[in-house]
Amino acid sequence: MPKAANRPVYSYKLSIIHFWALIFIYIWAGPHHLLYSSMPDWVQSLGTVFSIMLIAPSWGGMLNGLLTLRGAWDRVRQDPVLKFFVVAVTAYGMATFEGPMLSIKSLNAISHFTDWTIAHVHVGALGWNGFLTFGALYWLWPRMYRTQLYSVKLANIHFWVGTLGIVFYAVPLYWAGWTQSLMWKEFTPQGTLAWGNFLDTVTQILPMYAMRSFGGTLSSWVPVSGCITCTKPLPGAIS
Ligand code: HEM
Ligand code: HEM
Repeated sequence: MPKAANRPVYSYKLSIIHFWALIFIYIWAGPHHLLYSSMPDWVQSLGTVFSIMLIAPSWGGMLNGLLTLRGAWDRVRQDPVLKFFVVAVTAYGMATFEGPMLSIKSLNAISHFTDWTIAHVHVGALGWNGFLTFGALYWLWPRMYRTQLYSVKLANIHFWVGTLGIVFYAVPLYWAGWTQSLMWKEFTPQGTLAWGNFLDTVTQILPMYAMRSFGGTLSSWVPVSGCITCTKPLPGAIS
């Protein structure tokens, strides 16, 4: 971000503290994937405690990134690289706020095994990792190949289609996840499962899966436009 915005990082000290705090805390947070398993209770609790502590370095990094853009927000409006970075860092902030919540056992009892987890995954995967990758590639390609972006307009369209794709991918998955959880936990007055047949819950979330496919298709279109943007030589360059 400092490179793309051509500004110094907001706080160098914070970036160092945030880095080492992530390294130290993340390694203890792993048991949040094994809540309600046969792992000793104290290990599960340790995972929860460290997951909640993770908010601090995660958001420290997010804020450090966003504050680096202080005074350069007018450039975000024009520069697709910065746009990708802003959404990526925001998605990181969302995933790292949601993660600690999911690590609380009472909430994990609702989310585990449902599409809620998959929504969380893809806010991180498509929003944070995906958009960061494309922002970085759009910045790198012209410098690596000594070219200029084939079309800044196309990169901007790529950004908006990708953003829309993430929204269409994630929102229906949250909805599907909560639907699954509510249906799986519904009992008849006799005490048996109201939706004993697994297919009942699958049929119920089919519309959400249709929307998710649409969102996924929009996101998958993204690399195609990315690749053609690095092909235009700089004026006067020998090809
Ligand atoms: C503070 C940061 C985060 C915490 C505390 C956290 C916590 C969690 C928790 C509690 C789960 C649910 C586990 C389960 O029920 O089985 C989960 C799942 C997952 N999270 Fe996060 N998360 C964080 C950030 C992220 C980010 C940024 C990404 C992606 C870049 C990510 C990727 C995943 C994946 C892939 C899974 C699913 C793993 C599986 O297949 O079971 N998480 N996370
Ligand atoms: C448009 C792009 C993408 C589509 C359409 C897509 C689709 C899917 C689907 C259908 C699943 C199965 C989820 C389920 O069990 O219900 C899945 C799982 C997963 N995807 Fe993606 N994905 C995409 C991009 C990515 C990217 C870029 C990453 C990583 C950077 C990623 C990481 C994962 C992970 C870790 C899981 C396993 C989650 C779990 O089981 O807990 N995906 N994806």
